[in-house]
Formats: sequence, structure tokens, C-alpha cells
Amino acid sequence: MATSRPSITLRPARPDDLPDLLAIEAASFTGDRLSRRALRRWLRVPYGRCLVAERAGAIVAYGLASLHRAGRVARIYSLAVAPGARGSGLGGRLLAALESTARERGYAVARLEVPATNAPARALYRAAGYAERERLPGYYEGGGDGLRLEKRLDG
Ligand SMILES: CC(C)(COP(=O)(O)OP(=O)(O)OC[C@H]1O[C@@H](n2cnc3c(N)ncnc32)[C@H](O)[C@@H]1OP(=O)(O)O)[C@@H](O)C(=O)NCCC(=O)NCCS
Repeated sequence: MATSRPSITLRPARPDDLPDLLAIEAASFTGDRLSRRALRRWLRVPYGRCLVAERAGAIVAYGLASLHRAGRVARIYSLAVAPGARGSGLGGRLLAALESTARERGYAVARLEVPATNAPARALYRAAGYAERERLPGYYEGGGDGLRLEKRLDG
């Protein structure tokens, strides 16, 4: 018998999503995690744009961008998909949705940092059109290098 997969909806995060966001964060990163306090703040500040992906009532991914008023560069601040939901296009969808908000608000460029050793994330960003701009030695908590990537949103 054919089974249908529950559909996924993207929506802005709400304050009561915080425990789910923290669980995804814990399952996705070993260092440089966003704390409860930091995440709560991101949900409140006007320049924070946080989207969640919901499947059958459960949050399975989130993406966070920093869109400062009058800025030209939108920062993709965090992107994480729960381990059981990876590989089905959610990371790409969330990233595209954040970019589209940034574009609508007049941002010309999206920028992000990624650990040089994070092959899945680097592949996702490459597929989404990001180019390496700078290497950031010792950028992460454990001393690992980062890469700064950028994509033009107005091209
Ligand atoms: C990186 C991450 C967000 C990707 O999310 P995802 O939903 O699994 O990614 P998608 O299914 O949207 O994949 C989009 C593209 O990314 C690339 N990609 C994703 N996972 C990959 C993997 N494990 N290996 C190689 N390429 C991968 C592929 O190019 C893929 O396109 P394809 O499916 O057509 O081949 C997810 O693995 C994750 O949450 N990792 C832990 C947290 C993290 O590293 N976040 C990024 C911090 S900078």
C-alpha cells in the first residue's frame, strides 16, 4: 500500500517553538551552539528572521537570518535540520525562503560562515550558488577554520 509523506510547511518561528529549536540545535552542532537566551533574543529582535519547517505538527528544521534595517548584506546566521529529516531538500528550502525575504527587503547580498570541514553544508551552499570569499583561521570554538561565503541576491 502506498503511504503518503506528511507535507512540510514553512512558517515564522514563535516564542513557544523555543524548546524544539533548542533540541534541533543540540542534535546538529557540537560547539558554537546558540544558547536558549540567544535564541530567545533572536525570536524577539526586529532584525531576526527565523523560519521553521513543520511536519505533522513537529518542527524538524529551522533557519535564521539577521536582516538589519538599511543593511545591504543579509546574514544567514544558522541553518539546521533534525537528523531524521535530512537529505529531503529542507535545508535548501529554508535557505531559499530566507533569501527571498532578504531580497524582498532590498538586500543585495547574502553572507554566511561555515566550518571548512562541514562537507554537507558546503555542498548545500555551493548548490545554492554561494561562492567562497574568505578563509577565517580559528574562527570556531574548537579552533577550526571557517569559510565566509556570499551570494548575490539581485543578479
Ligand atoms: C547542512 C544541512 C542543513 C543540510 O540540510 P538538508 O535538508 O539535509 O539538505 P538538502 O536535502 O536541502 O540538500 C540540498 C543539497 O545540499 C547538498 N547536501 C546536503 N546534505 C549533503 C550530504 N550529507 N553530503 C553531500 N551533500 C549534501 C546536496 O548538494 C543537496 O542537493 P541534492 O539533494 O540535490 O544532492 C543539514 O545536514 C544539517 O542540519 N546539518 C547539521 C547542521 C549544520 O551543519 N548546519 C549548517 C551550519 S553552517
